[in-house]
Amino acid sequence: MKVTVVGTGYVGLVTGTCLAESGNDVTCVDNNPAKIETLNAGKLPIYEPGLLELVQRNRHDARLSFTTDLRTAVRAARLIFIAVGTPQSEAGDADLTAVFAVADAIGAALKDEPPGPPGSRVVITKSTVPVGTNKAVAGRLAAAGCPHVEVASNPEFLKEGAAIDDFMKPDRVVVGVRRPEVAEVLRELYAPFLRTERPFLVMTPESAEMTKYAANAMLATKISFINEMANLCDRLHADINDVRKGIGHDQRIGFQFLFPGPGYGGSCFPKDIEAVIAMGRRTGLPLKLMQAVDAVNDDQKLVLFGKIAAHFGGDLAGKTLAVWGLAFKPRTDDIREAPALTLIDELLAAGVKVRVHDPEAMENVRALYGEKLYYADKPYGALEGADGLAIVTEWPEFRNPDFELIRRLLAGHVVFDGRNVYDERTMSQYGFTYYGIGRGK
Ligand code: UGA
Repeated sequence: MKVTVVGTGYVGLVTGTCLAESGNDVTCVDNNPAKIETLNAGKLPIYEPGLLELVQRNRHDARLSFTTDLRTAVRAARLIFIAVGTPQSEAGDADLTAVFAVADAIGAALKDEPPGPPGSRVVITKSTVPVGTNKAVAGRLAAAGCPHVEVASNPEFLKEGAAIDDFMKPDRVVVGVRRPEVAEVLRELYAPFLRTERPFLVMTPESAEMTKYAANAMLATKISFINEMANLCDRLHADINDVRKGIGHDQRIGFQFLFPGPGYGGSCFPKDIEAVIAMGRRTGLPLKLMQAVDAVNDDQKLVLFGKIAAHFGGDLAGKTLAVWGLAFKPRTDDIREAPALTLIDELLAAGVKVRVHDPEAMENVRALYGEKLYYADKPYGALEGADGLAIVTEWPEFRNPDFELIRRLLAGHVVFDGRNVYDERTMSQYGFTYYGIGRGK
């Protein structure tokens, strides 16, 4: 099928590339010429494991191309995905400026086309958009002279760092449509990814839009729940890692997304929880649970700093701290809403010298902090002379380090483990004072 994807961020690029990989003829559009230039030079504007190889192969096989020419790409396509950003507005809502601008541009591109049979031209919203956006996009297309163009909602559930796999082997595909013919076109498009009997769920656009928010709201709730339990464990000298296992074996609870840490970050959860709260506010329904999830997370981002300050008796001025892990999670260079940034801000404000290392996110952090930090190319380089080490992101390379070397390099033998990658027993054998999250102190 001829597919156009507008927006070459994480979602757009992964969607376009994976749809090309399954044999479709895909054009990706962006209004940022620098991004298109990068992609046409065979490079990626983001880091995502496995994506570069797929982009290069599909470009080589002429199934994938990149352009700034939205009009031509839209007119040539049967399916047009909108995958542009929906950042948080001042009021907490998702800002739909980019989505509507693209809808208007699609309308302008298609307005003089004669209408075809149902399903012959479908605009699909992939971006995370508030409930009601499908209707608003359809309204704009109709106002632009394209009442015949169908609008479907097809939320994306991919995780950064595992995006290709999530797209290729989805737990489910959700589509929101007003006509069954449109669902059938999308069922055909997704069939190659659903061969292991994964469900293709058809519902109204409103339910599809809500599904995306409900999924992220549930996941964020699990994280804030376990973080709150972890903080209580600290005060009661229980170990959250044992408690986590103790509850996870109950199949109604399960193990997934119950890892305590320094709070959730990234481009999705923080923004989507705010957007859910805003939807509640707009409809006169205060969402108390969502507000609590958000508040717990804000506090959680300060927990590691609290442990560091307490360890040094509240006096941090002139100390040096090494920080391992800056991206909001492993296998990405994304630092949006990353808990490491909150920690760094607190440390700098307390007069601490900060030495950082991350396998992928260093350039993004340097762009924010400039010379305020020391950037170590290698993990061990960050440790030299530091009074302690804080781990904020659980990159695999931090899991089995050379503890002897760490002890030799660190001036102060204390580790603040924001992801519980180590344990008290091993660390004390190597002579470290150890703090985890919810490990009993
Ligand atoms: C999240 C969802 O997992 C995806 O399903 C969704 O499609 C995506 O948002 C989106 O809306 O686009 P992502 O933000 O890439 O994906 O990352 P996650 O792996 O979900 O991690 C989010 C945050 O939660 C990270 O800061 C991570 O460290 C934290 N987390 C996750 C925990 O603190 N504990 C856990 O047990 C799991």
